[in-house]
Amino acid sequence: MNLEQLIQHAQAHRPLCWLNPHYQPAFSPSWIDAQIQQAEQDSEWLTTAISHLIPAFTKGRIQAPLLSANALLPYYPDLQSDQLWLQADHLLPVAGSVKARGGFYEVLQHASQLAQQAGLLSANSDSLTLLSDAAKQLFAQHRIAVGSTGNLGMAIGIMAALLGFQAEVHMSVEAKAWKKARLRQHGVKVIEHSGDYSRAVAAGRALAEQDPFTYFVDDERSSSLFSGYALAADQVIQALTEQGRRIDSEHPLLVYLPCGVGGAPGGIGYGLKRRLGDAVHLFFVEPCASPCILTAMASPQPQDVYQWGLDNQTLADGLAVPAASELVLTLLKTQLSGCMTVSDASLLLWLQCAYQQLQLQLEPSAAAGFVGPQLLLNSPEGRQYLAQQGLDARLKQTTHLIWTTGGSLVPENEFQSWLQLPN
Ligand SMILES: Cc1ncc(COP(=O)(O)O)c(C=O)c1O
Repeated sequence: MNLEQLIQHAQAHRPLCWLNPHYQPAFSPSWIDAQIQQAEQDSEWLTTAISHLIPAFTKGRIQAPLLSANALLPYYPDLQSDQLWLQADHLLPVAGSVKARGGFYEVLQHASQLAQQAGLLSANSDSLTLLSDAAKQLFAQHRIAVGSTGNLGMAIGIMAALLGFQAEVHMSVEAKAWKKARLRQHGVKVIEHSGDYSRAVAAGRALAEQDPFTYFVDDERSSSLFSGYALAADQVIQALTEQGRRIDSEHPLLVYLPCGVGGAPGGIGYGLKRRLGDAVHLFFVEPCASPCILTAMASPQPQDVYQWGLDNQTLADGLAVPAASELVLTLLKTQLSGCMTVSDASLLLWLQCAYQQLQLQLEPSAAAGFVGPQLLLNSPEGRQYLAQQGLDARLKQTTHLIWTTGGSLVPENEFQSWLQLPN
């Protein structure tokens, strides 16, 4: 497909699989690696504080289970037993989404820096110092702000409030009412902006720039968020290994990640690539109406979804992002295998299927990855990729990992309404 055909295809809301022409199988390290290494050390140090703040995180580690998806194999006739897995980030406690990984890390990292500057931490301090009265008094003078479609706001807002910060979340008026209500219950200030997610982020950023006591978590640019997401890689590799899955060039891993601005899938994907190199293949899955990584990467100069004539209207509120993160576009330029798109009808179908077959409670955004293996194995572009990378000969040795990214905290009535909707 040339660019014109691709745009027409996207405008017709027809699901597609686009292969990244800049893809290079081998991992190429970049400046962010030093920050990811730092995040690995920080996350060890933070385990004590995290286990006190949120006991549901076993041993203070921000992690969620890997689940077998064998029950879904009838929908994937090309795959065999134990080839299909789900990384169940929708079960991450308190925040209920993948956003806990980057969001909790960035807030705790900022808190540590403030505590250090104020002389509260010495070389031997443990992270419980961040929960002391002195730290609470310090944090109460500071504000943490974020612009969000909802789930990042929940992660940042709730962790900031737990530590005693003033917390402020900038959202589009269209963001889900229950997410706003939940944040307010936690003492978080919710500021609504007319327009889409990008405008909410820009407005939050501009307000924060005027106040030296406000720290803005920038979903479009933050390398700290990105590093927090990257920490997922070692956990998931260990979990797959414990399940007896071998991952190497002969036994490749294919990963399907729901994608909004790109931070969460970008950080996770980069972390996996950093560990597994050419043994892992990353596909981002975006709504047909909001494929911002696709419109940026497939155009000669990055474009937003409106420039492709798309309206950014989707049931997948967490993925309703018109313009991609530049950080992610740069860091993933050669690491990303491709982008796929999914229709709202298909999201609903998979949401209902995940509930019926596996009793999982997902939100529409979190169901995006399920189309991944089908598009890879059945579309002409997917088959082209398999042939180009020599994967078709090793199909039986592949492991397919679908990242389910949110939904466990969705109120029952809202979830029931998705089960009732025709798809
Ligand atoms: C449930 C869910 N999945 C995936 C994502 C995508 O993350 P990102 O916007 O960092 O690409 C989001 C973003 O809010 C989300 O809420």
